[in-house]
Amino acid sequence: MCWRLLRLRGDGGIPQATYRFDRSYAWNYAHAPAVPRVRRLPQAPGGRLLDYRVNSPLGVASGPLLNSKWIESYARVGYDILTYSTVRSTPRQAYSLPNVRHVENREHMAVTTKRPPLNGDTTIAVSFGMPSMEPDVWRKDVRRAKERIGPGQVLVVSVVGTPEPGMDPEGLIADYARCAEWAAEAGADVVEVHLAVPNPFSDQSQQVFESVPLSAQILYRVRSSVGIPVVAKLGAFRTPRMLHDTATKLAAWAHGYVLVHSIHRRVVDESGNAAFEGAGRDFADVVGADTFSVSSRQVLEMLAWRKAGAWDRAILAVGGITTVERARNLLREGVDATLVATAALFDPLFAIRFREALASAA
Ligand SMILES: Cc1cc2nc3c(=O)[nH]c(=O)nc-3n(C[C@H](O)[C@H](O)[C@H](O)COP(=O)(O)O)c2cc1C
Repeated sequence: MCWRLLRLRGDGGIPQATYRFDRSYAWNYAHAPAVPRVRRLPQAPGGRLLDYRVNSPLGVASGPLLNSKWIESYARVGYDILTYSTVRSTPRQAYSLPNVRHVENREHMAVTTKRPPLNGDTTIAVSFGMPSMEPDVWRKDVRRAKERIGPGQVLVVSVVGTPEPGMDPEGLIADYARCAEWAAEAGADVVEVHLAVPNPFSDQSQQVFESVPLSAQILYRVRSSVGIPVVAKLGAFRTPRMLHDTATKLAAWAHGYVLVHSIHRRVVDESGNAAFEGAGRDFADVVGADTFSVSSRQVLEMLAWRKAGAWDRAILAVGGITTVERARNLLREGVDATLVATAALFDPLFAIRFREALASAA
């Protein structure tokens, strides 16, 4: 096996990820992990997602798959829903290092830990600033990504609008739609509209998905601009009522929901200082194992509302799915797909164990 993860078990046996967190985003963009020789992937009993047949209902969420080379690597080891990391209409550099810290997720904040767990029970805070290549670069590369995936695999492209100083809501809505159109033209099977980002038009600390009118307008415009399925990426809702109202009102414009993006938290080190240096980096996305209880509760809430019959849209679960058992339990509950990010990075052969488990249960 030659995959970076399998070669590198760093000091003290601390697992290294396929993404080198000690290197820049640009370095990682240029160094996709090499593919291990997996002689035969366990056969999963396929299924359907949106308009597509899929080999298995497991995929990689937006973030880990930086470009077509990363997509190809993960497609080869059995992930069947491949999300191209969020792209913008203008290039954006990543924040400086560190971009990732191992953390313990406490009640009101996350605190960095010196020694990450050894058993794959990984929780991290991520602070990248959502970098994006020039549109000309990613548009060509999405086309390559589409060519590099196989039958029964689906390419999702995550898009976000980029607020500029003085921009009004119409400008942001148009920007989301422009990216979605470009993604669809480049060959995306599904467009994921990233709404778990700060709402630049709100005085309070609010994310876009927490404003139903703004989210509805974005989704409406995206939906009218592309002929492929549109899914909305949502964050953690403050109350079950908000989750219900949002899902019901957005159902007219979205074919599905991807949730929960992350737990947006203040991240500090053991002395109480900000864990990430630089303006606007006090808060970061806490993801991975510890977030499962919050995320899965919201997913189950969503499933309950769907069963109640108000709407019928796909539900793609994400957030803290770090064991095969967690993925299978959510699928048994009725989600249409399970997506992983942290596990994809720290435990890239997760998909193989997942397929084995499905095959032996079939
Ligand atoms: C390294 C990394 C980068 C990420 N970048 C993005 C991103 O660009 N856009 C996005 O929508 N989500 C991003 N995410 C969030 C994931 O898509 C996912 O919602 C989150 O990590 C929860 O899943 P997990 O608990 O399996 O990690 C990123 C996650 C990680 C770990």
